[in-house]
Amino acid sequence: MELKSLTYTSWARPRISDGDIEAILRSSHTNNPLEGIGGVLIFNGGAFMQVLEGSEKAVDDMAERLRADKRHSNFFIRDERLISERAFPDWSMAYLRLKDDEFVGEDRVQRALARAVPDATRNIIRALTQSLPVAR
Ligand SMILES: Cc1cc2nc3c(=O)[nH]c(=O)nc-3n(C[C@H](O)[C@H](O)[C@H](O)COP(=O)(O)O)c2cc1C
Repeated sequence: MELKSLTYTSWARPRISDGDIEAILRSSHTNNPLEGIGGVLIFNGGAFMQVLEGSEKAVDDMAERLRADKRHSNFFIRDERLISERAFPDWSMAYLRLKDDEFVGEDRVQRALARAVPDATRNIIRALTQSLPVAR
C-alpha cells in the first residue's frame, strides 16, 4: 500500500481555547487509529503545523476535512510525498505545545521527535518550526 506524508501549516482561530485543543486531540485520538493515520501536531499559541501519515486516500480525505475546520484558517500544504515507511509509527497524533521562543521550540521539537525520523522529514520540520509565527 502506498503511504503518504503530508505537512501543512495554518493559523489558529483567534482566542482559540485549551478546550478547543483538547477537543481536536480527542477527535484525533479517536479517529486516526481507525483511519490508520499517525503524525504530529505542533501548536505555538498562534499557528499549527501538522504532519499526517497514512494511506494516500486516508491522508487526502483527512486533509480535506481539516481544511474545512473553522478552528483554523490559512491552511497551506508545505510538503506532500509518498514514503516507504512511517516516521511516526506509534503515535495516533503526537502533540507538542511550544511556549517559549522559536529556538527553544525548535530544540524541544527536535528532542521530542522519534529517533526514527528520516533526515529529510526532520529538516522539513526544523525549517517549518523556525518559520512558525510565535504568538506574543
Ligand atoms: C489543527 C487541527 C488538527 C486536527 N487534526 C485532526 C486529526 O489528526 N484527526 C482528526 O480526526 N481530526 C482532526 N481535527 C479535527 C477535524 O477537523 C474534525 O473536526 C474531526 O475530525 C471531526 O471528527 P469528530 O466528529 O469525530 O470529532 C483537527 C482540527 C484542527 C483545527
